[in-house]
Amino acid sequence: MSKPFVYMDYNATTPLRPEVRNRMVEALDVYANASSLHESGRRARAEIEEARASVAALIGARDASGLYFTSGGSESNNTVFMTMYQLGRKNPSRRKIITSAIEHPCVMNAAAYLAEEGFPVVYLPVDSFARIDLDALKKELGPDTLLVSIMAANNEIGTIEDIRTIAAMAKKAGAFVHSDATQAVGKVPVSVQEWGIDYLTLSCHKIYGPKGVGALFVRPGAPIQPLIRGGHQENGVRAGTYNNLGIIGFGKAAELALSDLPEFGPRLAALRKRLMDGLVSRIPHVKINGHPEEVLPNTLNLSFPGAEGESILLSLDLEGIQVSTGSACASGSLEPSHVLLATGLGPELAHGSIRFSLGRNSSEEEVDYVIEKLPPIIQRLRRMSTVNPR
Ligand SMILES: Cc1ncc(COP(=O)(O)O)c(C=O)c1O
Repeated sequence: MSKPFVYMDYNATTPLRPEVRNRMVEALDVYANASSLHESGRRARAEIEEARASVAALIGARDASGLYFTSGGSESNNTVFMTMYQLGRKNPSRRKIITSAIEHPCVMNAAAYLAEEGFPVVYLPVDSFARIDLDALKKELGPDTLLVSIMAANNEIGTIEDIRTIAAMAKKAGAFVHSDATQAVGKVPVSVQEWGIDYLTLSCHKIYGPKGVGALFVRPGAPIQPLIRGGHQENGVRAGTYNNLGIIGFGKAAELALSDLPEFGPRLAALRKRLMDGLVSRIPHVKINGHPEEVLPNTLNLSFPGAEGESILLSLDLEGIQVSTGSACASGSLEPSHVLLATGLGPELAHGSIRFSLGRNSSEEEVDYVIEKLPPIIQRLRRMSTVNPR
């Protein structure tokens, strides 16, 4: 009998949806340079603009005019931070950057670069559910604040932030507002207009589209500087010959993500609950990480005191179950998750945490398989451990 294959790592990346794949196979023949003025170029360009409109609709933008294609979430986030670097250099009286202690490394490291360059950078604390401390934000905001950058939903534990309130507070202080919505898009409603933000980051490979393509929304009128300089593509905001294949795939993935959202979220939430209830009732001393309600419907992060995360991951892998400890970008590092530490978890619990992230192909059968396989694994690892699970 072949080994079961249960993929529960959709926050790391998602498989291509068949419809996206089919669209991309067609798009393989859209070879013309979308900046060329001849007929083939114009046709390629029309397909890119169609994709742009679909992505803009997914994030609730008024129109597609502020949407720029990039190579992914990391590039979009860095573009915003490097724009702030340029602005802050010109006007040192307003160059404070406020972000949070639980951001993705591509925001953390971009902010760290600005700190190295002498910019004041504040990493806001979060509560035990990973929600931003709004009192701390209020205290930090002032006429010197240039940017507030807070993620819409956390990749490791799924907590959803109140971006609308954060944006309203930041706007009062005259700051720009950015949100890394890479994990929120396609799982919960996202609206740049309703949130009132200036910049939003998203990435295609988290919504069942290809890797290596993403987008940055810039509110029309908000400043933006290219990270990659060159030709005049994307109104000079992002140089480089258009990635026809990736962008057309992104458009299809966005169109489907938007139409599926009303049904997709509740279906995932029901599966998540089944997984959580099943594991918590069968395994003693489980700690549920993340917010009980304001959480992505697909993300369940659990700590198993007395069992080490990587050992759990590898034992599950032997059973054909693919999960993650913390974020994929941090795996391989022996450092405990900065997100879990920020919620107040001790290093031992933070080391013993597993992220289950569900997605389109997840089913009750898969969830039940995990509920069957995990309890004996934890029991065995705890028996071998010297640490008391309490
Ligand atoms: C919250 C968040 N931001 C940014 C990224 C980076 O996106 P990309 O892989 O497209 O560079 C990720 C990917 O893991 C993410 O989860």
